[in-house]
Amino acid sequence: MQDFNGRVAVITGGASGIGLGMARAFAGAGMKLVLGDLDTEALDAVTEELTTAGAEVVGRRCDVSQPSEIEALADRAIDTYGGVNVLCNNAGIGIPTATHKMKLDDWRWIIDVDLWGPIYGVHTFLPLIEEQGEGHINATSSMAGLIAGGMMGAYNVAKHGVVALMATLERDLRGRKSPITASVLCPGPINTNISRHSVQYRPGQAKPKADGETSGKVASSIQAILERGMDPDEVGRLVLEAIGSGQFWILTHPRWTKTLQKQLDAMNDDWSLPKA
Ligand SMILES: NC(=O)c1ccc[n+]([C@@H]2O[C@H](COP(=O)([O-])OP(=O)(O)OC[C@H]3O[C@@H](n4cnc5c(N)ncnc54)[C@H](O)[C@@H]3O)[C@@H](O)[C@H]2O)c1
Repeated sequence: MQDFNGRVAVITGGASGIGLGMARAFAGAGMKLVLGDLDTEALDAVTEELTTAGAEVVGRRCDVSQPSEIEALADRAIDTYGGVNVLCNNAGIGIPTATHKMKLDDWRWIIDVDLWGPIYGVHTFLPLIEEQGEGHINATSSMAGLIAGGMMGAYNVAKHGVVALMATLERDLRGRKSPITASVLCPGPINTNISRHSVQYRPGQAKPKADGETSGKVASSIQAILERGMDPDEVGRLVLEAIGSGQFWILTHPRWTKTLQKQLDAMNDDWSLPKA
């Protein structure tokens, strides 16, 4: 897909961080936008920002872990613009917890949002996008979708699942000569509010404790790494360029693939699991 002007993009988690970066880049390229997010206040602010800048944008509250809400987002896009060309399954959350401390409710919540969200997105939007005769489906995974570091079990499982979902989708699309393409975004550290949002949205009363269960220390060192991370607007521009040039893998920190290479080497050398 190279001509973005007038095309319609749906972005989940579009009210903050990487999703907002994509929304800004896509609007700058003349695309019409449908943004889905849990945070209606942020959605209103972003819609106003982009509309003032001259873009056509609508926002809708959407919980990506609910298939009916993804369908309602698709209905909103069709009712407003008559079709959809690009979907970015981007909304996501994560809480660092050691595997032995992870509650089943947290496993379910993280996998529901981070993996079932993109699955519902593909299921609902694929036929709608194919109907347009051209288009693209992207999903935001993570470097955690390629390398499973410690403390992030549910997130790693979900993000590995997203890579598998998108690689399978792209191969299936090519296999049946579909006019649409797919890609996966695997960011390294990006300076966003994901830690704050994840704590805010975590279901139930249990909030992170500084006792090893969603360890306060781990959470604050992750936060410090994110604050030194890439600007999410730069990620939005990278995604736009990558879709335009037909890339499948979209990496913000390509040098980090060395860790992946180390894992592959160890697999062949002594069958060990090296440090991530
Ligand atoms: N920030 C990073 O360093 C980083 C690195 C790798 C991958 N990612 C991934 O990037 C994506 C975007 O995260 P971000 O860093 O921009 O965080 P963010 O919190 O700034 O943005 C995520 C948006 O998703 C929304 N959201 C959360 N749960 C939702 C749900 N159930 N339904 C709909 N919307 C929901 C939030 O309200 C927020 O607006 C996520 O999938 C995340 O896992 C982020």
